[in-house]
Amino acid sequence: MYKSDLEDNSGSDTNGAIKALAAKPSIWQRFKSHMKKRWWIYVIVFCCTVLVVVLPIVYVGIPHFANDYINNYQFDYEGLAITNPRPTSFHVSQSKKLSMGGGFSGSGHLTAFNASIRVPDTDEEFSVFPVPQINFKNGAKLVIDQDLHLSCVECLSNLAIAAATNKSFAVLVTGDPDLKLGGLPTAHLNIHKTMKMDGFNVTEFMNSQGAFNITSLELLSPRVDGYNFNATIALKNPTPFIVEMGHVTFNLSMGGSSLGYVDLPNLKLEQYNTTAVVLGNVDESMLIQEVVWGDGDSGDVTIDIKGHSCDYNGEEIPYFAAAIKAVSASATVDLLKYAELLI
Ligand SMILES: *[C@@H]1O[C@H](CO)[C@@H](O)[C@H](O)[C@H]1NC(C)=O
Ligand SMILES: *[C@@H]1O[C@H](CO)[C@@H](O)[C@H](O)[C@H]1NC(C)=O
Ligand SMILES: *[C@@H]1O[C@H](CO)[C@@H](O)[C@H](O)[C@H]1NC(C)=O
Ligand SMILES: *[C@@H]1O[C@H](CO)[C@@H](O)[C@H](O)[C@H]1NC(C)=O
Ligand SMILES: *[C@@H]1O[C@H](CO)[C@@H](O)[C@H](O)[C@H]1NC(C)=O
Ligand SMILES: *[C@@H]1O[C@H](CO)[C@@H](O)[C@H](O)[C@H]1NC(C)=O
Ligand SMILES: *[C@@H]1O[C@H](CO)[C@@H](O)[C@H](O)[C@H]1NC(C)=O
Repeated sequence: MYKSDLEDNSGSDTNGAIKALAAKPSIWQRFKSHMKKRWWIYVIVFCCTVLVVVLPIVYVGIPHFANDYINNYQFDYEGLAITNPRPTSFHVSQSKKLSMGGGFSGSGHLTAFNASIRVPDTDEEFSVFPVPQINFKNGAKLVIDQDLHLSCVECLSNLAIAAATNKSFAVLVTGDPDLKLGGLPTAHLNIHKTMKMDGFNVTEFMNSQGAFNITSLELLSPRVDGYNFNATIALKNPTPFIVEMGHVTFNLSMGGSSLGYVDLPNLKLEQYNTTAVVLGNVDESMLIQEVVWGDGDSGDVTIDIKGHSCDYNGEEIPYFAAAIKAVSASATVDLLKYAELLI
């Protein structure tokens, strides 16, 4: 009896189950094929999470032409701003209309979720980024306006050092938002993505064509607050990224001897053209001696630059400072080119 029930059950239920199985894959496959077309949803997610956290590191100190990086990922950072840095947090904002490629039409949303950002090897979480709900309908509007708190400042500092010393590094992002697309069943996403990035070579940047120009130069004699020059520089910022760094200082030397230091009292990398005031205290006689008695006919001098500090509102910003301190570069500058600014 029991046995025949079982057999019976298996007989009739198998048919049912087969039907169900036949129906299920079709929904599932439909969903999967939708997901394949909706790859850009992942792009949005990663755009608001990892990159928001990691790119400021990459662009720390001196703006970096991360063309390779950006080309590889095709993210859109237009208007993304990192501001008000504090020792254990910073503000992130972006308001952006995203237009979707791939012939997308339809509407839906990605629920708000907490994206966990960690160092892959140690598995140590260093921040949780609250990604807001993203609604889309033939495109999406991304609005981010929040503070990002760091639970492991040292983790971010270590990444920053890697970025500033041309080492590759990675972060792991995890999160589990729900995706609702039109009439399709809600999908529970399980994001587990390792983002690998390369640091950059500061020396190469410093010596690249047009990376920075001195647009005005004023010698302060007598010294003002210990500075003997006040210059304005124009910096290349080929990224659409805005990063407020604050007060950044560098030490300078030439041929192993200390040449002095420069202070950028208020460095903010703007979206297009960045200009910054640079106050400096340098040994002019050493520079002049180098030009007059140095080799060759040009006014070229090679100056070694070593990052010293970064603070904002008088507080050290440890993750920026770590990256700045890791900056060690040499730049060849044609002093004669700038002499005319003084005449
Ligand atoms: C994210 O985490 C915070 C703090 O734990 C919590 O208040 C919030 O509800 C979480 N948000 C989501 C979407 O889970
Ligand atoms: C350092 O930079 C150079 C030139 O940009 C690059 O070829 C090299 O692969 C980089 N090294 C590392 C370890 O990323
Ligand atoms: C950066 O580039 C310069 C010149 O191309 C090279 O000498 C130096 O070793 C590089 N630095 C790193 C850390 O790769
Ligand atoms: C340097 O120049 C800028 C702009 O020209 C000016 O605002 C600033 O007060 C000057 N600083 C000093 C110390 O002279
Ligand atoms: C610096 O000057 C050069 C030549 O005038 C120009 O091509 C370049 O765009 C300038 N760079 C910046 C950052 O303004
Ligand atoms: C490095 O720069 C800081 C401030 O910019 C200055 O106080 C310090 O004396 C400098 N160190 C050297 C060795 O020049
Ligand atoms: C940036 O500077 C360049 C050269 O100085 C200028 O031609 C261009 O219009 C500026 N762009 C913006 C958006 O101000």
